Amino acid sequence: MKNAVAKTIRLKDYQPPAWLVDTVSLQFELGEEQTRVVSSLRMRRNPAGPGGPLVLDGEALQLGRVALDGRELDGGDYHCDAHALTIDGTPERFTLEIETFIKPQENFSLEGLYKSSGNFCTQCEAEGFRKITYFPDRPDVMAVFETRIIADREKYPVLLSNGNPAGSGELDDGRHWALWRDPFRKPCYLFALVAGDLSSIERRYTTLSGREVLLKIHVEAHNIDKCEHAMNSLVRAMQWDEKTYGREYDLEVYNIVAVDDFNMGAMENKGLNIFNSKYVLARPDTATDTDFIGIEGVIGHEYFHNWSGNRVTCRDWFQLTLKEGLTVFRDQQFTADMNAAAPKRIDDVNVLRTAQFAEDAGPMAHPIQPDAYQEINNFYTVTVYNKGAEVIRMIHTLLGAARFRQGMDLYFERHDGQAVTTEDFLRAMEDASGVDLTRFRRWYHQAGTPTVKVAERYDAGRQRYVLSLSQSTPATPGQAEKQPFHIPVRMALLDAEGKPLRARLAETGSEAEEFILDFTEAEQVFTFDKVGQPPVLSILRDYSAPVKLDYPRGDETLAFCMAHDNDDFNRWDAGQELASRVLLQAVEAVQQQRPLQLPAFFIEAFGKTLRNDTLDLALKARALSLPSFSYLAERMDVIDVDAIHRAREFAWRQLAEALREDWLAVYHGLADEGFSLDPPAMGRRFMRNLALACLMYLPGEGEALARSQFDSADNMTNQQAAFRALVHHAPAQSQEVIDAFYAQWHDDALVMDKWFGIQATAPRPDTLRHVESLLAHPDFDLKNPNRVRSVLSMFASANPVCFHRTDGSGYRLLGQYIEKLDAINPQIAARLCIPLTRWRRYDADRQALMRAELERLKALPALSNDVDEQLRKSLEAG
Ligand code: TRP
Ligand code: ZN
Repeated sequence: MKNAVAKTIRLKDYQPPAWLVDTVSLQFELGEEQTRVVSSLRMRRNPAGPGGPLVLDGEALQLGRVALDGRELDGGDYHCDAHALTIDGTPERFTLEIETFIKPQENFSLEGLYKSSGNFCTQCEAEGFRKITYFPDRPDVMAVFETRIIADREKYPVLLSNGNPAGSGELDDGRHWALWRDPFRKPCYLFALVAGDLSSIERRYTTLSGREVLLKIHVEAHNIDKCEHAMNSLVRAMQWDEKTYGREYDLEVYNIVAVDDFNMGAMENKGLNIFNSKYVLARPDTATDTDFIGIEGVIGHEYFHNWSGNRVTCRDWFQLTLKEGLTVFRDQQFTADMNAAAPKRIDDVNVLRTAQFAEDAGPMAHPIQPDAYQEINNFYTVTVYNKGAEVIRMIHTLLGAARFRQGMDLYFERHDGQAVTTEDFLRAMEDASGVDLTRFRRWYHQAGTPTVKVAERYDAGRQRYVLSLSQSTPATPGQAEKQPFHIPVRMALLDAEGKPLRARLAETGSEAEEFILDFTEAEQVFTFDKVGQPPVLSILRDYSAPVKLDYPRGDETLAFCMAHDNDDFNRWDAGQELASRVLLQAVEAVQQQRPLQLPAFFIEAFGKTLRNDTLDLALKARALSLPSFSYLAERMDVIDVDAIHRAREFAWRQLAEALREDWLAVYHGLADEGFSLDPPAMGRRFMRNLALACLMYLPGEGEALARSQFDSADNMTNQQAAFRALVHHAPAQSQEVIDAFYAQWHDDALVMDKWFGIQATAPRPDTLRHVESLLAHPDFDLKNPNRVRSVLSMFASANPVCFHRTDGSGYRLLGQYIEKLDAINPQIAARLCIPLTRWRRYDADRQALMRAELERLKALPALSNDVDEQLRKSLEAG
């Protein structure tokens, strides 16, 4: 883990494994002092491998004994160092038995075998299995596993591993055992083990072909009443994958375990998913609507991995987007189908255009398929996941739903049981569809966000509309020159009512109301004939490609699109574009110390939407949400933290004042009609709580409403909204509700994360001090990633005015905790670095302060490989 010299792993150096593992038999004796692991591997030389001795990966292991074909080896037969066990002169085929000792109770990296709330659990992706036993820890080594677990019967009544149960029994020393067999070959990153005192709910499920499966969700006893939604989500996910992709589940049992200490969202281990409890536990009074939707999405995501990830897995970690981009695309489709498509698309695009665009413009910019890494854990990114999902979505757009499905069928059929590459995926898509993806492949290898420039011309005499597109992509670290991308541009020409006009695309001769243009060159012209009236262009409908638009439309055109475009996404996007222009003008006014004033037409358009009661509320609330701080920041050459903040605050205040009656009417008109999780009910709460947030800008007015909502809320969506409103905007009541909320929820870890997070994001002058006191609070725990995220990540990425204080105290505070955390959990420490690594985006004074903190950290002895890579790239790039 602690690397003296940073080593870079490169895709071009890939070699197949020298040795293969056919079967793995594991025995765990779980103990309080130490855990003994005995592994028996049936191995043989890979005929297609590069040759050479047997080298097994291993980290932080104490080696007991090694036996080859039953013969005990002594120190002269093998070599063991901090990273590997090497055995020379093995026969071509043999059985290797290895005994190791580990201390899960001291493992706070949450990688390998560790303890959470007293229970044993594992996390092996990407390279955690090597912290359990010596093994070729790479995804292209696939084996059949069986696992025997032995543990104290009282303390650990539940013993789980991958596959199907294959026996259990009692020992006469107070321990018991369970045996699990997984018939499917898998890489070791999908291995899992859980031993603990857990309660469960279960459900029987019959698959498409009539196979009976027992579904179980295991949680700590006090959480047993918070599992229902996760179970319902799992059943919906199973049905959806059968119906949409013809994929069904393949084992007798499907186990899900929720743990409080987890680095990421969840893990798709074969037959035994392990989840961050945040993505399992929910009850209306403890979880918000966003939490409920998130649980459904992550439950779906891990379930869908059973095919896109497990049955067909990755050859090496450079192929990560093969399983993650594809599975995110699948979970996005699932959520869209279960709820509503347009709001889901808007939310996904918001994540992409803020977090991913920022990553693509920063020192860690990488293509969805990177060609080098120092630490693979740093590449579980919004680029690999979310931009990766956009790339799959573009293939879906280019092929159409039917041919996409044929491509997926061929991919699964051809590669079931294999560890493959993104190239294999693309070839299956091409072979099944006949669509040529040669140029499209550049999306896998080039980083950076392309800008598409739009110019248009209408010739009334010829009834001809000419669209000229050009594209360019900025340089990113290590990639100075970029080739043009194959960009699918979904577009339509709208009439005066916003209805698409039928037109003829001259280049292909096809006539339609909507087109998907193959934009593949640096510059390209598309000519439309039979266009009888000057049209309004609706471009990049449903956000058909992850690009920025440079399209100098007039405000009136945007206002027209915002009101009339028949594409839901583009209607919303036109409103966002208009609002962004208005806000960026306000930013300029702040910078030039001019008086601020929102244009009348903007307030009017906003008011019209606000008063429109035929609009779907989920869409209406999104239309009335001003572009986020990060979205505006992304669009500035130099991020002016204070000016963006002041411009947004000013806009909200003016919208509150100018439309006071309308906001109040919305707020009072949408009182909760009894709790339900159906999309219309969630839409009502979203809209009503947006109204509340806006009314907080009217002194006195909002405060009373928020207080009564806080006191009477029967669900967390409403309680949290009121709590946030008061903590952020009503200093006089803040401490009182902080105490009340604490008294009510101090026993619920996930709700306490909200309590911490909302305080850490208060845009108030004293917040930095307050964050220091939160960090010293007895309920703060540096070992718990959710808690660390709720205070430190929220402060650094969702409280720009306080984090970027001009005295640099925000940066120093974060740096101090990165340093502390790196000794405990390098994965989380490395993620905390990200806000600082973006230092080049700010003004000179802030740059100097951020850089100083990065340099202080970089100079520390014994930095983890994870943090070292973030710091190095941040300081050297540019
Ligand atoms: N494969 C997991 C997912 O996306 C990601 C994951 C879970 C992970 N835990 C991890 C990645 C720990 C790296 C480290 O579903
Ligand atoms: Zn995943």
